[in-house]
Amino acid sequence: MPNLLFATNNTHKLREVQEIMGNDLQILSLKDVNLDVDIPETQETIEGNAVQKARFIHGITGLNCFADDTGLEIEALEGRPGVYSARYAGEGCSFDDNVTKILRELEGIENRKACFRCVICLIMDGAEQLFEGRIDGVITTEKEGADGFGYDPVFRPDGHRQTFAAMPAYLKNGISHRGRAIDKMVKWQKSKMAK
Ligand code: IMP
Repeated sequence: MPNLLFATNNTHKLREVQEIMGNDLQILSLKDVNLDVDIPETQETIEGNAVQKARFIHGITGLNCFADDTGLEIEALEGRPGVYSARYAGEGCSFDDNVTKILRELEGIENRKACFRCVICLIMDGAEQLFEGRIDGVITTEKEGADGFGYDPVFRPDGHRQTFAAMPAYLKNGISHRGRAIDKMVKWQKSKMAK
């Protein structure tokens, strides 16, 4: 399997993806290629942002690379925060600010259904491929767990008793939106190499 550059400055994601990939693929970080840049994500859709980030890093490095973009979609909030998941509580906000905002917006609301949707854009030998992963669950009424990042303390996947932040990393990675999208990407690459 070839080396592949992951277009992210998010160290949590980098660690997760390295764990998910195991020996399937050697992941390079932006640090590994001495690149220190802010990556734009100004599009109106998750797909658009994934493509924008991958094209931006490919444009600078010319290397095979991939980027992911994720949104938390809450049914009772008509799909919000969605593409605005990173900055839902405002520019420069923390993960905790975002979590506090959705808990406040869901106060007294019974329908807690939500999903994480992740889209990966892979640019391999100049060609683009998209892969999507999704996990359904509910937003808890209180934060639970200290691991993970983002909305993990309040997202409990269907069929599980713990939030993403309370379960072991291998369990989250095995069922998560990002894990599922990565799995599709690895399968696609393996099938391409077998041809
Ligand atoms: P991004 O644009 O892909 O970086 O994701 C937007 C936001 O979604 C992040 O800032 C996090 O708040 C949230 N997010 C992304 N992935 C996860 C995850 O695996 N768990 C919890 N929150 C996540």
